[in-house]
Amino acid sequence: MTRREFISGTLLGAGACLLGGTSLASALAPSAAPPDSVSFVHFTDTHLNPARDYSHCRMIKDSLALLEDAVSSVNTMKNIDFVIFTGDMIDSPTEKLVETFARAANRLQVPWFWSIGNHDVGPGGMKVPKMVEALNKHNPHFTAPAPRYSFTVNGFLFVSMCGAIDNAVTAAARFPEDEFQFLDERLRADASRPAILFQHFPIVYPFKSATHVVLNQQEYFGLIDSRPNVKAVFSGHYHAARLSERNGVAHVSTPALIQYPNEIRKTTVTRAAQGVKFDFEMIPTRLRNIRESSRAACSSSALLEGKPSDRTASMSVK
Ligand SMILES: [Fe+2]
Ligand SMILES: [Fe+2]
Repeated sequence: MTRREFISGTLLGAGACLLGGTSLASALAPSAAPPDSVSFVHFTDTHLNPARDYSHCRMIKDSLALLEDAVSSVNTMKNIDFVIFTGDMIDSPTEKLVETFARAANRLQVPWFWSIGNHDVGPGGMKVPKMVEALNKHNPHFTAPAPRYSFTVNGFLFVSMCGAIDNAVTAAARFPEDEFQFLDERLRADASRPAILFQHFPIVYPFKSATHVVLNQQEYFGLIDSRPNVKAVFSGHYHAARLSERNGVAHVSTPALIQYPNEIRKTTVTRAAQGVKFDFEMIPTRLRNIRESSRAACSSSALLEGKPSDRTASMSVK
């Protein structure tokens, strides 16, 4: 059985388990002799809403074309285990856009997972529970029990966190106590597995912002500082490429698909003698005219693109 068949098969089983309320982590049990690596592709900030016009360098009108191109690009890659979308999947919080988004994502030949961003929920549109319900309805391969959930692949633990505030229009985030409890319990229960967190909102900020903040950032740092199996946090929200390390944890910020540099990040994580090694590769959209138009309209293209060391690079953490 190939790695792809392994995760696909377990996901089909996971759906049945989740109907009974079983956690996804237990449904996606590791194989007897797990391989020592996992490969996935990180999409973020697709801001789908093709009925909207361009907004500065955000190529909203082309959002569906950009998503469809990236999906078909992933389908040409070998040995990808899954895709993760870390939020702002849609530009406005309507179920209709979730349906359009999922129709494109469902063309992936691997399972796809998600974390919720500030554009996915909000006043006048879907709140967090409704967004989870819509995603579950339109993603036939994965049913999430809650806005935060976990799964395991090849001996690695993955946890998707939420933190979105849905009763105000805000770029700030706050992770509720029950999410921290869930994360802490999952990390304790699987203390021997390397753990990778997915969430829209970074806790190590790619650059300074007064608005794009995690209101309980210090509490979050306290939690992951106490759990040495946490190896990385992948996020979006800033639309910028950055790689940094804090206390043995890689903080991976991937730029938006909707605006320059219009990229997704292929990641392979491998167990090392001590800790894990990450190999990152940035994959730009193949729609070069759209990318060039976005770059030309973007006054902060260098800030968003990051340095070469933020992009296609390797990184080890213990
Ligand atoms: Fe965004
Ligand atoms: Fe965002």
